[in-house]
Amino acid sequence: VSATGRTPADVLVDGETIAAVLAPGSTLLGFDLAAHVDRVIDATGKYVIPGGVDAHTHMELPFGGTAASDTFETGTRAAAWGGTTTIVDFAVQRAGERVMDGLAAWHDKAAGQCAVDYAFHQIVGGVDDDSLKAMEGLVAEGVTSYKLFMAYPGVFYADDAQIVRAMQKAADLGLLTMMHAENGPAIDVLAAQLVERGKTDPYFHGIARAWQLEEEATHRAIMLADLTNAPLYVVHVSAKQAVQQLAWARDNGKNVFGETCPQYLYLSLEEQLGAPGFEGAKWVCSTPLRSRAEGHQDHMWQALRTNDLQMVSTDHCPFCMKGQKELGLSDFRAIPNGIGSVEHRMDLMYQGVVTGEITLERWVELTSTTPARMFGLYGRKGVIAPGADADVVVYDPAGHTSIGVGEGRTHHMNMDHSAWEGFEVDGHVDVVLSRGTVVVDDAGYHGRAGHGRYLKRDLSQYLV
Ligand code: URP
Ligand code: ZN
Ligand code: ZN
Repeated sequence: VSATGRTPADVLVDGETIAAVLAPGSTLLGFDLAAHVDRVIDATGKYVIPGGVDAHTHMELPFGGTAASDTFETGTRAAAWGGTTTIVDFAVQRAGERVMDGLAAWHDKAAGQCAVDYAFHQIVGGVDDDSLKAMEGLVAEGVTSYKLFMAYPGVFYADDAQIVRAMQKAADLGLLTMMHAENGPAIDVLAAQLVERGKTDPYFHGIARAWQLEEEATHRAIMLADLTNAPLYVVHVSAKQAVQQLAWARDNGKNVFGETCPQYLYLSLEEQLGAPGFEGAKWVCSTPLRSRAEGHQDHMWQALRTNDLQMVSTDHCPFCMKGQKELGLSDFRAIPNGIGSVEHRMDLMYQGVVTGEITLERWVELTSTTPARMFGLYGRKGVIAPGADADVVVYDPAGHTSIGVGEGRTHHMNMDHSAWEGFEVDGHVDVVLSRGTVVVDDAGYHGRAGHGRYLKRDLSQYLV
């Protein structure tokens, strides 16, 4: 299955790459292939797809006085289990720090640890003369996209003046601007008012982060990008009104793109409200879960069908309950933001095929092919074709996956809970190859830390 169609085929892997895609039972130079290869993986009745590309992860991200609980080792192992064979993680620069130091620190964390291939975006958490100058060196490092935050004042943040300066620089360099589009200063006012009134439960995280503040920030980002001729990619879109802004911009010829995440398709603010005690903390993420009654989830699925949203990433940013999420027991503002899903994205999105929300081809496009094209990896990743890396997943539509931390459930992330506990998927990741090496099959996990390589990325294919 590719982004454009499906056909019965034999896939011939030679070393780390795809050598050929052949009609079933083909001979090559007169040889019966099956008799002359080291290993035959029988995929009869199953789908063979390019390995998943998760373009939004945060392994070991320092946040809220703690750090995301998956290391590059545990996080990429979990990714492999779930059929994701490439991650693009975010190197971090904060205000006052040097961008290239942040990038070097991320290389140190990841080198020799990854089970699958990895690449980096750069968070520019503080825009100033030094960080703008340093952006000039990113493309040569294979980092062709960077992220700004309109949220999180005092942590990672860019005001309008800083956004304009960064976008001008990015437009000159061919860097893709990724935007966390929420109005952080306004959110902080609402959050403080809620806490003053004793509204400290996890649910109020989502109340403070109102959809109006995502819509407003998305519109502002679009207009600043238009002004500066900077292509724009809005991350973790959850509000239908933000999607409408993106759709309007695209209809008017602006070069803007949006991703959503499985949590904004399946989970809701109402469920968070109904969770007992502090349980709702497992769903504290930003942007927040939205109200099902307001129709945000249905709108996200629709936007994936109509291409108003182009990709699904996880924003994998895991924190344990114990010692991490619990930091916000008496004040939701202190709950570290993030959900862990790197292992489940391919399954959760396949469930959208089962329920008729998206087609099989769109599943591949949203989870592998477009991420590869958007972030300068296409050709090596995102496609099964001669010369591409042999990142291949055999997916069994007759299989079943029970997600969660309990016995018999699938969970290899370094978390003491799952935001997806109890989710059942009619499908199963059967076999996973990373650059020609079988890392997962029915005998279990065969990957190793250090197999995964750093990928220097080309410029986005979506720049015009
Ligand atoms: O809740 C989230 N999304 N945590 C990770 C940081 C970010 O904003 O992407
Ligand atoms: Zn963000
Ligand atoms: Zn993120």
